[in-house]
Amino acid sequence: MQSREIHVLVNDEKYIREVPVNKTLLQFIREDLGLTGAKEGCSEGECGACTVIMDGKPVNSCMVLAYEAAGTTILTVEGLAKNGVLHPLQQAFIDEGAVQCGFCTPGMLLTAKSILDEYPSPTEAEIRKMMEGNLCRCTGYTRIVKTVKKVADMLSAAGS
Ligand code: FES
Ligand code: FES
Repeated sequence: MQSREIHVLVNDEKYIREVPVNKTLLQFIREDLGLTGAKEGCSEGECGACTVIMDGKPVNSCMVLAYEAAGTTILTVEGLAKNGVLHPLQQAFIDEGAVQCGFCTPGMLLTAKSILDEYPSPTEAEIRKMMEGNLCRCTGYTRIVKTVKKVADMLSAAGS
């Protein structure tokens, strides 16, 4: 199998690795870097469990080849907490009961973060729409959407 050397910045750490050309970014992150927060659900771009943020945008990492991520900056759920302090979204997901089995949660958090980075004051309807690529079998979505809205309101009040 042909391979390529890639340089990537993941959670503020530089990695240089040789990757087979058919290895997905999800496999690379989980197997080569040992970051197992991104989950493998459908493997076909439908469930969002494998979501990571690549150059500021959420991507389904099962649908990106690792070599295509060369030169990019990636954030996985492991990089959300800073200095041992959970990101406000992580804390709110816990406090508001937006987590049940947790399988979808890393992807949900990263999609939510990318929404809040781009749209500081989304409505619940906008959040629901923008998160529809992330599937959850447990929560019925209402708590997740309300929690993201609550954090958006909290962050925009803190910034104003
Ligand atoms: S595992 Fe990637 S979208 Fe489902
Ligand atoms: S909490 Fe179980 S799939 Fe979402």
